[in-house]
Amino acid sequence: MDEPKVKIRIEGLYKVFGRAPHRGVEMLRAGKSKDEILKKTKLAVGVADASFDVYDGETLVVMGLSGSGKSTLVRCVNRLMEPTAGKIIVDDIDVTALDEAGLREIRRKKFGMVFQSFALFPHKTVLENVEFGLDIQGVPVEERRPKATEALKQVGLDGWGDYYPQNLSGGMKQRVGLARALAVDPDVLLMDEAFSALDPLIRTDMQDELIALESRVKKTILFITHDLDEALKMGDRIVLMRDGGVVQIGTPEEILTHPADEYVSRFVENVDITKVLVASDVMKKPKPVAFVHDGPRTALHKMKEAGLSGIFVVQSDNWKLVGHLTAERAAEAAKAGERWIEHLTTAEACATVPLDEPVRQIFSKVSGNPVAVIDSEGALKGVIVRGTVIAALSERGEDNV
Ligand SMILES: Nc1ncnc2c1ncn2[C@@H]1O[C@H](COP(=O)(O)OP(=O)(O)OP(=O)(O)O)[C@@H](O)[C@H]1O
Ligand SMILES: [Mg+2]
Repeated sequence: MDEPKVKIRIEGLYKVFGRAPHRGVEMLRAGKSKDEILKKTKLAVGVADASFDVYDGETLVVMGLSGSGKSTLVRCVNRLMEPTAGKIIVDDIDVTALDEAGLREIRRKKFGMVFQSFALFPHKTVLENVEFGLDIQGVPVEERRPKATEALKQVGLDGWGDYYPQNLSGGMKQRVGLARALAVDPDVLLMDEAFSALDPLIRTDMQDELIALESRVKKTILFITHDLDEALKMGDRIVLMRDGGVVQIGTPEEILTHPADEYVSRFVENVDITKVLVASDVMKKPKPVAFVHDGPRTALHKMKEAGLSGIFVVQSDNWKLVGHLTAERAAEAAKAGERWIEHLTTAEACATVPLDEPVRQIFSKVSGNPVAVIDSEGALKGVIVRGTVIAALSERGEDNV
């Protein structure tokens, strides 16, 4: 796999609140805890030695309990808060070293921010609210309207431009907030609990909307939430924070299957694993398979050896899936003296899923026949039978008790 391109690099970041905050950094470096430091010095530790990369185009979710430093961290990225120590590099630009003008420039060009509170002006229309984001960034007036209109369209609010925020539901207001951030076409979206104030159904809608948007416009998103389900749904990777530090970073699945410590385990223990595991995690090697040029007797023999009542048939050179052949059908063909099995297979009766199909969706498909897992070229990569899925789930269950 290619090395992913790094969009944001966070290096040894510290944020300590209070007078002479560098003392707090020194104490942290000397191994003192956040609590000790607060007791001894009244300094509040926001972020303590956080280091990680955000890849270009990914949605990185930062998760952790209240007070773990999520908001502080995200505000340090565009220096809404001044880091006490450490570096933030965005596209090779050291954000921590920028002067006021440089900072304004990079905020304008690279960052869009969406908060939990919608922060809309009640006396401005929806369109004017979106334009406001462009206004403060110095976009000339004649460019604002078309950009704002386009951004409203992107969040599904086409036609709502002339309404006032009071006419909108919570979800719609949050869409306006998102449109305001998108209007400037930033490379990076910083979203701090952006969906947390919405009721569950609207929240789900917004999550889906953002995922769809993300696949269209490929932004890099730093997404803060304290909700694990949301993190698993939205995150390409998840960073777990505790007491200002990073406890674990990994894909949702890595976090679930290999929690780094007790804190992470407690976070994930109530998660329904079937939401996260995908076909490639639970499939078995497709062994044996029959090839299109096999005769029915060969196919029968392979099934018998392996104790199977059916077999997947593939092209011999590229393993492209042709279909599934039952022992019964092969036996009939053998009796009738047929030579090849190619035309005997039933592609229709053979359920296929892509490698990244969530396990929970596979459950309903593995009734009697096994399910074929195929890659984007249609080549057979694995096989799933009901037993495989259940075994995969119970394995995890066991090391969790
Ligand atoms: N302006 C501030 N002055 C003093 N301490 C602060 C300030 N902002 C944050 N902190 C402290 O920094 C720590 C991290 O706070 P932060 O708001 O980043 O947490 P969070 O993970 O975003 O929590 P939540 O889930 O509640 O939003 C907390 O202990 C908090 O008290
Ligand atoms: Mg917060």
